[in-house]
Amino acid sequence: MCTFVGSLIESVMAKRYTITAALPYTNGPIHIGHLAGVYVPADIFARYLRLKGNDVAFMCGSDEHGVPITIKAKKEGVSPQNIVDKYHGIIKQSFEEFGISFDNYSRTSAKMHHDTASEFFKTLYDNNEFVEEVSQQLYDAEANQFLADRFVTGTCPKCGYEEAYGDQCESCGSSLNATDLINPKSAITGNVPTLKKTKHWFLPLNKYEEFLRNWILVGHKKDWKPNVYGQVKSWIDDGLRPRAVTRDLDWGIPVPVEGGEGKVLYVWFDAPIGYISATKEWAAREGKNWEDYWKDKDTTLVHFIGKDNIVFHCIIFPAMLKAEGSFILPENVPANEFLNLEGNKLSTSKNWAVWLPDYLKDFPNQQDVLRYTLTANAPETKDNDFTWKDFQARNNNELVAIFGNFINRVVVLTHKYYNGVVPNPSNYSQIDLDTLAELKAYPAVIASSIERYRFREASQELMNLARLGNKYLAEEEPWKTIKTDEARTKTVMYVALQIAAALAVLSEPFLPFTSNKLKSILNESGNSWDDISNEKELLPTNHVIGKGELLFSKIEDAAIQEQLDKLEAQKRTNEMADKTVEPQKDIITFDDFTKLDLRVGTIIEAEKMPKTKKLLVLKVDTGIDVRIIVSGIAESFSPEEVIGKRVTVLVNLAPRKLRGVESEGMILMTENETGNLVFVNPDKGDQIANGIRIS
Ligand code: MF3
Ligand code: ZN
Repeated sequence: MCTFVGSLIESVMAKRYTITAALPYTNGPIHIGHLAGVYVPADIFARYLRLKGNDVAFMCGSDEHGVPITIKAKKEGVSPQNIVDKYHGIIKQSFEEFGISFDNYSRTSAKMHHDTASEFFKTLYDNNEFVEEVSQQLYDAEANQFLADRFVTGTCPKCGYEEAYGDQCESCGSSLNATDLINPKSAITGNVPTLKKTKHWFLPLNKYEEFLRNWILVGHKKDWKPNVYGQVKSWIDDGLRPRAVTRDLDWGIPVPVEGGEGKVLYVWFDAPIGYISATKEWAAREGKNWEDYWKDKDTTLVHFIGKDNIVFHCIIFPAMLKAEGSFILPENVPANEFLNLEGNKLSTSKNWAVWLPDYLKDFPNQQDVLRYTLTANAPETKDNDFTWKDFQARNNNELVAIFGNFINRVVVLTHKYYNGVVPNPSNYSQIDLDTLAELKAYPAVIASSIERYRFREASQELMNLARLGNKYLAEEEPWKTIKTDEARTKTVMYVALQIAAALAVLSEPFLPFTSNKLKSILNESGNSWDDISNEKELLPTNHVIGKGELLFSKIEDAAIQEQLDKLEAQKRTNEMADKTVEPQKDIITFDDFTKLDLRVGTIIEAEKMPKTKKLLVLKVDTGIDVRIIVSGIAESFSPEEVIGKRVTVLVNLAPRKLRGVESEGMILMTENETGNLVFVNPDKGDQIANGIRIS
């Protein structure tokens, strides 16, 4: 009877949600920045809503069109299809491995998506929502190709950033048209583009200015994040302009109308429609009606994205949905800021990242540790830094020392004192009552943080519940009372077991693997989020718990050092690559070359030139003679260091006086990767006699 009423109320209150997470570009694996910024928060939200009994469609998929993929394919000398097939598999697997609970992970090369996006375009076309225009666009004559989006870089007209892309400046977030760029440069050949006429279809965003202003700036002023609201406001205040939604490219969804031959849909036109096609695919599989999730005004639509995607999800896609006319608009777009790694911007091209497949190799079965660290330190209101030391501290000081420790004590003591059977409580003390009351308040506290998209706060509240458990045990000391007061011990253990059972439920959105493990340790999986606040006993007397098992384990310094070393090596590689190699000098003849007389020699004496910083006065055995050479190496070497060094000497350089000392020749030097001077000396110097010619 009671259960019946309960589920009736739930079904009345259950709401329908469509949750989307930005479709990742399929040109590389996923790294911690993606996880922290988009997928972990979206997953926490979706899992929480499901736990509350809502009807949730959590949608994502691979973004397989667009220039980044074409560029990657060109670089590797394979087809774009080849690239997306490879990374779609890798990315999908990473999401599964990290417990990102998409109801469907689709891809934009799927037929369902091509059909859905084409149809969407045609609807807008048929309704005369586009402006058709022949205009001059950037063109690379050598590559025989129009340059749009990431095929062209140049200086942002808004902020002066020199590496802005043809459709967006990643520094200030502005959305651009390629022809806006100052000093544009082709990303394919490096050439300065020319202009060439071509026809495209434009979405007149200017027509939607009023609608967007009312919908977001008036309607959502209070509930949207200030960073999102602020960006949207500044674009709208700047005035919106028509935006081309087609491109002269061959990789993408063909433009499905007359005159569209050889053109494809702009990737940012097709990709967000991917949310819709993923829903269609899923609904067909599950026997549901996809339109319930996109067209029913009682459905709540939420887009999880990174901050570089704000304009597309808050201006362009809503304008598209509005133009189409039958779709709902997002209730919220909780965009995150960026995550840095050890103080530097995450970068795929510079390989400055922690890739998920690599993480799992080094920390097998420790997905929840990363999920927790990224949540506790999420870039919600400002850019944030991921450091391996912080990762270690979050694991050792929080997951192990607080959460894991509490559960371990409860489980071990329950087995030790009661053979795993939940004991019968007797009279509650005030502290027991207070603790149970505090426990019952947690679901609402955590829920309120999650519902306001404050996942860091929510994760800390979860940890606070484990703290409450630890504090309770530490104060009530069942390991002492067991010798003196059996009834009291039973009560304390009973209360502690209720906290453990609540943790098993409330940790699910954040730590899904741990939650499962804990449920099996406690041998209980039937409790719901709301049961915790009700009168229900989460673990009733006489319930038998399962076998104990450690939830978390300490991460040692060596494991962290290994990661830091990896990054240090990457930093060095990047520095080398960054160093611009000097251009080649003018061509010389063979005769010019043979004029140089280079010999192997040995430095036999060295002293500092008085009153100078840079100069050493060297006595060098050239095989021909022993002579004085003054060399500017004193900042890199002490005299003692260079005595005995084998060197290469240019012996026929015209003598010249330096500080009154005549120098007869020159020692050849170069620089190593850290910029320090090193001698150019013969490989097996000790077997080569002084005076041997180098030619
Ligand atoms: N692929 C884009 C990125 O990684 C995100 C696309 S989101 C969608 O920045 F809405 F277009 F799907
Ligand atoms: Zn800019």
